[in-house]
Amino acid sequence: MTKTLSQISTIESLRSAVREAKSNGRKVALVPTMGYLHEGHLSLVEEASKQADFVVVSIFVNPLQFGENEDLANYPRDLDHDLRLLSASGHCDVAFTPSVEEMYPVPLVTTVQLPSMASKLCGRTRPIHFAGVATVVTKLFQIVQPDVACFGQKDGQQLAVIRRMVKDLNMPVNVVGVPTVREEDGLAKSSRNVYLSKEEREHAPVLYQALSWAKAEIERGQRDATEIVRGVRERIEQDSIARLDYVEAVEMDTLESVSVLSGDVMIAVAAYFGKARLIDNIQLHVE
Ligand code: PAF
Repeated sequence: MTKTLSQISTIESLRSAVREAKSNGRKVALVPTMGYLHEGHLSLVEEASKQADFVVVSIFVNPLQFGENEDLANYPRDLDHDLRLLSASGHCDVAFTPSVEEMYPVPLVTTVQLPSMASKLCGRTRPIHFAGVATVVTKLFQIVQPDVACFGQKDGQQLAVIRRMVKDLNMPVNVVGVPTVREEDGLAKSSRNVYLSKEEREHAPVLYQALSWAKAEIERGQRDATEIVRGVRERIEQDSIARLDYVEAVEMDTLESVSVLSGDVMIAVAAYFGKARLIDNIQLHVE
């Protein structure tokens, strides 16, 4: 059934909308976003509507997850467009659009930290990022009290961090990881793709090409993580524009590097194309 979208900007009104939905026996899903929505987000919203009856999409550019030299002020925003997309999707009941003052009326004294996972991979260049994500997601979980929350597999480290936080802190939320949505040439959809020049955009699919090579090698039986990492690195380094940040093979649960591929693993990459820093990954269960 096509849903009619409401926009709610205060915590109190959102709580009362969720209370009413729950009192009518409806299961609640949350899709946390920072807006500037694209098809990747819409696939999260669609999945949320399959998982639950009442879908809340939060749109909040969270200052806590931006470092000092990261461009919070220039992060792309277009609320009207976001609301139009959510309304047209027919899968969202409420767009929760709080202000910074509503979410952070006073400076926080309490934060959620997962240092061993937050310092790995992207955490090396973005040291405060995952504490900011974990803290705002905890606040959103407290505000919405969803039964289910949907996150993109594209942000693989974020997904691992949230899953671990939910497990460690016994949060009663089922975290669902939703497959990455890609452009036709394989580039993962991301709000940050708007930063790419025409030439950079043409080169950016090298990340997916390198990861696809890795997936095929693993499917052919390769279990040596060093070989996979070396092959992915070589392919990205051969590109004349990409500046590689990292390639790593890690255990999905802990984000610890692995030397042998076994169980739930992720091959994760990050690279700069001009000023845009793009990430991508593949997540596999290896027998
Ligand atoms: O993935 C994002 O857009 C953000 O990190 C999230 C989960 C909405 C928290 O601000």
